[in-house]
Amino acid sequence: MNQKAVSASQAGNISLGNELTVHRLGYGAMRLTGDGIWGPPKDQKNALAVLRRAVELGVNFIDTADTYGPNVNEEQIAEALYPYPKDLVIATKGGWERPGPGQWTHNATPAHLRKAVEGSLKRLRVDRIDVYQLHIPDPVVSFEASVGTLAELHREGKIRLVSLSNVTQEHIERARRIIPIASVQNRYSFADREWDYVVDHCERNKIVFIPWFPLGAGRVAGEALNQVAKAHSASPTQVAIAWLLRRSPIMLPIPGTSSIEHLEQNVAAAALQLTNDEYEKLAGVPELVGVR
Ligand SMILES: NC(=O)c1ccc[n+]([C@@H]2O[C@H](COP(=O)([O-])OP(=O)(O)OC[C@H]3O[C@@H](n4cnc5c(N)ncnc54)[C@H](OP(=O)(O)O)[C@@H]3O)[C@@H](O)[C@H]2O)c1
Repeated sequence: MNQKAVSASQAGNISLGNELTVHRLGYGAMRLTGDGIWGPPKDQKNALAVLRRAVELGVNFIDTADTYGPNVNEEQIAEALYPYPKDLVIATKGGWERPGPGQWTHNATPAHLRKAVEGSLKRLRVDRIDVYQLHIPDPVVSFEASVGTLAELHREGKIRLVSLSNVTQEHIERARRIIPIASVQNRYSFADREWDYVVDHCERNKIVFIPWFPLGAGRVAGEALNQVAKAHSASPTQVAIAWLLRRSPIMLPIPGTSSIEHLEQNVAAAALQLTNDEYEKLAGVPELVGVR
């Protein structure tokens, strides 16, 4: 692939809630924390350099969460990029807690979400969070109470746009009765299509869909993928990103990496156009090796 003019802008633009416009290829920052998404990374200097390079490459949508580290990831973003470029949109999340490395537990009570938003405001050094995502519905808390709290925080000026993650179509519709939903973030890639119907629902309703594990956590693989990659002198991960961009105009991939080299490769995929045949071939051959 031609690496000369690498820029996330080559993926085009996408509007979040008719309020914020970003390039349609973002960056997921979770991988910048320590092992098990716990604590600081071995090389903090590198983590900050990855964030700065992402912005240099035209990335203006960065995804994070209070639980990544916990707290570490939001602090890294502020340390690397504050004062923020005018067009940078930071999307964070709340509603999960971290008892230890690799461990995640629900907590989307109104009291916890309020505390979580205050913490993210402080760590990100902002007066208002651009995009705040309910990380995952809490099975022992009323979903309406969780979303209702985010709607209140929106009215109080602490959250600009309310979004959801790890939800069904039913959740989306229940939330939209309370407040407009800007985006939905579920696990999705060409090889992991469980949430296809949610992508279609988002497309019909002009809700941005943010696929997490867009590279199957780095494990997307298979003969079909390799063949398409070879035809474009591209890498399999670049083809996986190009497939997502082609899947729907509301798709906003956020491939994660802790490597500047991988970041540059991933952003270069914004310029990669698959043919109809290539797209269909990958759509029909889900092959994902050992995710989770
Ligand atoms: N909402 C949720 O519940 C949820 C859950 C998980 C993740 N997320 C978000 O989604 C983002 C993306 O997901 P993810 O980072 O977990 O998984 P991913 O983007 O599918 O894959 C990231 C993995 O792929 C590797 N990788 C990236 N680019 C590569 C390249 N060009 N060549 C080879 N390997 C490459 C990375 O390793 P290197 O570091 O070595 O490049 C990393 O291990 C996260 O950063 C986070 O913001 C959200």
